[in-house]
Amino acid sequence: MKKVLIIHGPNLNMLGKREPEVYGKTTLGEINDALTARGNEHGLAIETFQSNHEGAIIEKIQANFDKVSGVIINPAAFTHTSVAIRDALLMVDAPVIEVHLSNIYKREPFRHKSMVADIAVAQISGLGVQGYHAALDAIANMVK
Ligand code: DQA
Repeated sequence: MKKVLIIHGPNLNMLGKREPEVYGKTTLGEINDALTARGNEHGLAIETFQSNHEGAIIEKIQANFDKVSGVIINPAAFTHTSVAIRDALLMVDAPVIEVHLSNIYKREPFRHKSMVADIAVAQISGLGVQGYHAALDAIANMVK
């Protein structure tokens, strides 16, 4: 079974409690369960991973760079700062889609810069939880 890796960056473990007016009330567990079900409908195995640590995210990408058919990543605050996560994603020989729950371009100027956007197949920003599903459907189509 082809595998899609879904990575959630720092503070996303607090979804549901964290600024619900910005990020919604759905918990990370609920998001991951729904994505796993949808992936399985597409015939894809889904691995989900969340970390508050940049190095742990990099090591996860390194361990999977040649094992996955796609990566969906919400690097959260690391989006705006991490050359190292960008460099790790450049190793991945499969489509990478960047997802943000909020529309980062409607927010503070420091969120307008993404270190990942220009190396990803696409960026989805502002669709809430739906953005992850759109990304997964797109990857499913690409790997068919
Ligand atoms: C986020 C946007 C980032 O700017 C922020 O640091 C996050 C979440 C989003 O999903 O909207 O933690 O990636």
